[in-house]
Amino acid sequence: MTVHLTINGKEIEAEKGKTILEAARENGIEIPTLCYHSHLHPIGSCRLCIVDIEGYPMPMASCTTPVSEGIKVHTQTGRVQKMRKEALELILVNHPLDCPVCDKGGECRLQDLAYEFEIKEQPFHAKKPEREVVSFSTPLIRQWRDRCVLCLRCVHVCHELVGNGAIDIRETGYQSVVFPVAPERCLSCGECLSVCPVGALTEAVNPFRGRVWQIEREQTTCGQCAVGCQMEISTYEGRPINIKTDNIEGQAPNFGSLCIRGRFMYDYVTHEDRLTQPKIRKGQDFAAAGWDEAYEDAINNLREVVKAHGPEAIGFITSARLTNEDLFVINKFAKSGIGTPNVDSAQRFDLAGHLPVLELLKGGKADSLDGLLNSDVIVIAGGDIDLQSQVVGNRIRTAQRFHDAKVIVVNAFKTRLNEIADASLDCAAGSEIPVFYGLLKEAFGEKGGFGDIGGSQALLKELEDYSSDAVCEAAQIDRDMFDIASALLSNKETISFVVGTGLPQTHRGLQALKALANLALAAEAAGKKINWFPLSAAANSWGAALMNSGTHVDASGAKGLSCCEMISAASEGKLKALVVIEEDPVSFFPDRKFVRDALEKLDFLMVVDLFESETAKDADLLLPSTSFMEKEGTFVNMEMVSGKIRKLIDPVGGSRSAGEIFQDIGRKMKFSLGDGFAWASENAASIVGEVFNDENSRVAGKAFFPVSYDSSRENGKNIFALVVADTIYNHHYGTAASHVAAVGKLGKRPELRLNGKDVRRLNMEDEHEIAVVTSKGKLLFSLASSSDIKEGHAVLVGHYQQTRINELFPFEFDGESGTPEIGLLRVKLEKP
Ligand code: FES
Repeated sequence: MTVHLTINGKEIEAEKGKTILEAARENGIEIPTLCYHSHLHPIGSCRLCIVDIEGYPMPMASCTTPVSEGIKVHTQTGRVQKMRKEALELILVNHPLDCPVCDKGGECRLQDLAYEFEIKEQPFHAKKPEREVVSFSTPLIRQWRDRCVLCLRCVHVCHELVGNGAIDIRETGYQSVVFPVAPERCLSCGECLSVCPVGALTEAVNPFRGRVWQIEREQTTCGQCAVGCQMEISTYEGRPINIKTDNIEGQAPNFGSLCIRGRFMYDYVTHEDRLTQPKIRKGQDFAAAGWDEAYEDAINNLREVVKAHGPEAIGFITSARLTNEDLFVINKFAKSGIGTPNVDSAQRFDLAGHLPVLELLKGGKADSLDGLLNSDVIVIAGGDIDLQSQVVGNRIRTAQRFHDAKVIVVNAFKTRLNEIADASLDCAAGSEIPVFYGLLKEAFGEKGGFGDIGGSQALLKELEDYSSDAVCEAAQIDRDMFDIASALLSNKETISFVVGTGLPQTHRGLQALKALANLALAAEAAGKKINWFPLSAAANSWGAALMNSGTHVDASGAKGLSCCEMISAASEGKLKALVVIEEDPVSFFPDRKFVRDALEKLDFLMVVDLFESETAKDADLLLPSTSFMEKEGTFVNMEMVSGKIRKLIDPVGGSRSAGEIFQDIGRKMKFSLGDGFAWASENAASIVGEVFNDENSRVAGKAFFPVSYDSSRENGKNIFALVVADTIYNHHYGTAASHVAAVGKLGKRPELRLNGKDVRRLNMEDEHEIAVVTSKGKLLFSLASSSDIKEGHAVLVGHYQQTRINELFPFEFDGESGTPEIGLLRVKLEKP
């Protein structure tokens, strides 16, 4: 419904419910603001947006006053201009005029407004309040309390968007101050820093600074997870110095939001440990080499293996953080040039299992994240979404807070999203299948079948074992919560499924994923609209799935070995050479010793990376490659949208992009690679989706996945289900995570969290060292009790490179999806 009004004499039409400020801006009429932010509830504190409305005795704040039929608004009367100036002068009473040394100088909203309103002196004076100096909620941000204008944007964004409540206002009136009331809840995402209009919050990570007129700022796509956030990176004298989004807050998919990784973890790019020149192994050591010598070494070794064992004795493990252009060239080099089908990437860790599910549910398409905002119910499974992709977590909170979406969380431990959940199904780790099938039966199974979907009869038969009582008992979940969840699924119309990376990475992960997909398919058969959002840790997982599919580089489409199969083949002596590009199997694949032993059996190990990773330590040839800031290219995000990567700085040292390296070697080997870069850049967007079968109909011809569930589990004294949780600042970011200042500043140590009752049962206390034991070995961690953890469970929070937890896992992976099992393990806990 619309209403009609005039602003400054201009007749305009606006949607009912909009504010005068929104209506004005939509019609190109500017009104000054300071506390208003388009993503937050307006609080009307600064009074700069006041406007005169005919018939009203006093001006009104346009950011909080809704439009109404027939009102006549004036934004520039002498009265409002005078009052705005006075409001500004009052704000400036306590604000120091330290603009020359303030980080925000040149891009400060208050500075701009003072200039616009020609404030040349401070007519009001007051005694400065005494303000104790305390740390902010994160060491990554410095708070300057005397610069604060109490617009409260930071407090609101922390509560409304991030759901942290880490900071809040303390005291009242003149003494009011923003205070870190719950720093332990802070995710260090920097959303508060981003919305601060002045220099009251400044970044405390990077010692390098540059004035706005000295720096270059360019938009690019984040190189971290698969959300594909748009960001602007500022560079000064050849290095990145900050990442901002304030100029692009209206752009999808992140609308100005970033997580700690996107906002603060960029300085690895110019870290002093970066590899800057090729190295060739000479005995126990590496010797520095020139590029020509290194290329000759690569060519000679690869040719020797092909001659002696055939091309299929060579494998390529690529990173899902490489650009489409890199991946295209590498695939072309390996498949058309060398002649091996063995090219795979670490998208196996999370995305691979989703491909058949997406084909079934969405005809191979991906949903736009906007779908979350239109959801009636959001079902979350697979770990802590905020730690995996906080921007998705933020979108879920927005859907819940502003669009009334209901939230169901199925997980083995409580997360932040449990705090807003209508139904928290805290199930025993590994019992997701009974939970999904219990919900399926209760919400949709009793309503007369599933139409003509294949496998219906078998599914209905299977569901006989999943009565609500049996499910709640087996999964150790609260019956009331289960009933709420099933009623929501049954009664609401649009259901979104957000699947964290933790779900596919367990022993029964692919089966659990299929059971959840069956729940979604049953909902669709019942007339619901469904969305499916798989999270993926790497920026270009979708591009890697596409480029490795073989369709575009090798007409034969021959199926090669998956990452883990290549390691197995190396262990069995069948694979003789392995090329690992920006991936670190020794640190991230299960069973570190098995992987290392397998690599040692190779005739030739070539590693291309930014840093000397654990895998690189065993390499015969080590080549330095570039980060996403040092090259042009594209990523494909979880919405299957292609995002542009821009070259912002020159390659560090003598490094070269992975694509360039294989293009060079290919030319020397006389391979006909064409111009892979240009081809991939031009086609990445248009061929996205071709990897799937677009012809699938929505329901007709579909069939439920057969799912097998093995409920047996190892039991015994002090046997726990160990869940490996992500930490927000690393999340499979290869070697880069250990080369960023932000991680060091946070100083987080790996922690093993147990329920307090279990801690007491073990006769231990917080911060004691505890040993995690499996048949593979023993590791020690610091103990922390937490009521968020179920009894009988242990949750390990820490980076793989820090914890080395992969040492304790057996080398196992799902035979169908190739996903390594690194998320859940039965372990023994004991005093060291
Ligand atoms: Fe409206 Fe601050 S912008 S009161």
